Amino acid sequence: MAPKHCPICAVKKFIRSKRLNQPVTEKYNNGMALTPPMGWSSWNLFKYKINETLIKEIAEAMAKSGLADAGYKYVNIDDCWQNSSRDENGKLQTDFITFPSGIKKLNDYVNSLGLKLGIYSSNGTHTCEDYPASLGNERIDADTFAEWGVEYFKYDFCHNEPVPTAAPWIIKVNVGEKSGCDFYEAFAKDAVLSGEACLEKNEKAEGGFFIKGLCAGNGAAEFKDIDVKEAGKYVLTLTVSKAKKERKFLVISVNSKKEYYLDVPALNHYTPEHRFQLEINLEAGENTIRLYNPIASKKDSAFFQYKLMGNELKRATKEYAEKNGTEEKKIIFSICEWGRNKPWLWGAEAGNLWRTTPDIIPDWKSVMALYEITVRLGKYAGPGGWNDPDMLEVGNGNLTHEENRSHFSLWCMMCAPLILGNDVRKFIKSDGTVDKDSKVYQILTNKNLIGIDQDILGIPCRKVKGLSHSPLVDVLVKPLDGKRVAVCVLNKGRGSKKVKVQIDKIVAFADVNVDKKEKYNIFNCWTEEKNEGKEFVSITQKHGCEVFIIS
Ligand code: GLA
Repeated sequence: MAPKHCPICAVKKFIRSKRLNQPVTEKYNNGMALTPPMGWSSWNLFKYKINETLIKEIAEAMAKSGLADAGYKYVNIDDCWQNSSRDENGKLQTDFITFPSGIKKLNDYVNSLGLKLGIYSSNGTHTCEDYPASLGNERIDADTFAEWGVEYFKYDFCHNEPVPTAAPWIIKVNVGEKSGCDFYEAFAKDAVLSGEACLEKNEKAEGGFFIKGLCAGNGAAEFKDIDVKEAGKYVLTLTVSKAKKERKFLVISVNSKKEYYLDVPALNHYTPEHRFQLEINLEAGENTIRLYNPIASKKDSAFFQYKLMGNELKRATKEYAEKNGTEEKKIIFSICEWGRNKPWLWGAEAGNLWRTTPDIIPDWKSVMALYEITVRLGKYAGPGGWNDPDMLEVGNGNLTHEENRSHFSLWCMMCAPLILGNDVRKFIKSDGTVDKDSKVYQILTNKNLIGIDQDILGIPCRKVKGLSHSPLVDVLVKPLDGKRVAVCVLNKGRGSKKVKVQIDKIVAFADVNVDKKEKYNIFNCWTEEKNEGKEFVSITQKHGCEVFIIS
C-alpha cells in the first residue's frame, strides 16, 4: 500500500490527473474518411431554425449546383432536429412539427439525390441546445442511427458528465447461474492485488476487509480460478461498500478479452453495502476477472467516452447490415469536444475527425484564431483521422472576398474537413440555372484547392519559418502526391505584401518529394496561371493569400 503522506505520490497523482494516461494503440479504422469529409451542415447559418423542408432544399441545391459533383456529399443536420422526449422504446425521435416524416424518410430522399445524410447528438445528457443526448444511451442511439441509414455523425460535448476517477471498495465477488445458484464466492482477501490496491480491515464487511485503491488507474484486483464447465452467460454479483458518497466507476475485465463497465451512483448510507449484478460471458475452464478503474483524468474520460460511441457505431452498422441482408452503411464519426481534452492525441483511435477549437464565427479574427491553433497540429492528422478547425463560414457574415478565399485556402492546406456553412440554395438562380458568377460559388468549387485538401497522401501543411521575412506573412508547405508540393502565402496584415520565394529552399525540406531542378513548374491555384522558374512572387492584399503548386 502507498504510504499515507507521500509528497512524491501526490505530485505524481496531480500529473496523472492532467494528462492522457490511456494508451492510444490503434486507429479507428472504419475505412472511412480516407480524405477529409466534404459536405454541408445546418449549424453555422441556420442554427435552431431548421426543418425537413430546408434540409431537402439544401440537398436539392447541392445536387443541382454541382457542389455534389465537386465532392460535397454529406448533408449534415446539426442540433435541434430532436424531439424533447425519447419515444416509448427509449429511442431518439424527431420534433413532430419541424421533422414530421422522421429521419429515415429524409435520409432516403437525400440518398435518392446521390447524397448522404448526417446527424448530430452530444456526448452528454443533453445537446448544446438542451435536447436529449446520447451519454449512457450509446448503444440504442447507434442502433437508431444505423437503422435510419445516416452516414455521418457529429458528437458534441455539451452536458457531458466525466467518468469518475473513484472506484468502489470491493467486499465480495460471486459468480453463478441466473437460476440463483452461486458456484463461486471470493472475499477481498482472496484477490491478487497489484499497484496501490490494498486491503483495509473492516469488521462489518463480510470476510473482514475491503479492497481499496482501485481508483484513477492506481491498482487492480484479480479474482482467478473461476471454473466453469461450459462457456456461456453467467451472473456476476459484486458486493461493494457504500462508504464515501460519490459517483464511482469500475471496469470488469474478463480474461483480458471483454470489458464490462459499472457506473456506481453516489450511494445512500442507510445500509452499509450494495450489490451490483451483471451478466458476463465466461469461457469453459478457468476464468479471471480483473477489477480496476483506469480513468485518472478528464482526458482519459473523454477518450473513453468517445471511443465507446465510436465502437457502438461500428458495431451497429455492421449488425444492421447483417440482420437485414443489406450493404453496410458505415458512419463517419466526427468528434466535437472543441479541443478541450487534446483530442488530437486520442481522436484517431476514437473516430474519423476531431474538433481542435471552440466554435467558428464568420469573422476574420475567429478564422485566424482557429487556423493558428490547428496549423500546429498537422502531425496528428492523416487518412482516416483529421483535425477539424470547425465548419466553413465562406459566404457568411462579413468576411470579405479575400478573407473567404484565404479561409478556404487555409482549410484546404490543413486537410480540414470541408463542411459548408452557407445557404447553398442561393447558388440556384430563379430561372433554375446555376449562378456560376457567384464569387462564393467559385471559391467553394475551385478544383485546384479541393484537390489540395483531398490529396491522397493526406499530409496537412506546416508553417515554415524564414521564407517571408515578415511576421505578418505565413508560408505554408504541404507535400502532394505525384512529386508536387503546395505552397500557400498568407497575408495576415492590413497592407499589401510582396513575397519572393526561392523554390530550392522548399524542395530542400525532408518531407517534400520534389526533385531539385533548374526550372520548376509553378501553377497558381486561384488564377490558374502557369509559369516556370526557380522562384515565384506572391503579391497579396489585406488578409489575402496565394496558393501555388510546384512540381
Ligand atoms: C456546439 C458545437 C457547434 C454546434 C452547436 C449546436 O457549440 O461546437 O458546432 O454543433 O454546439 O448546438
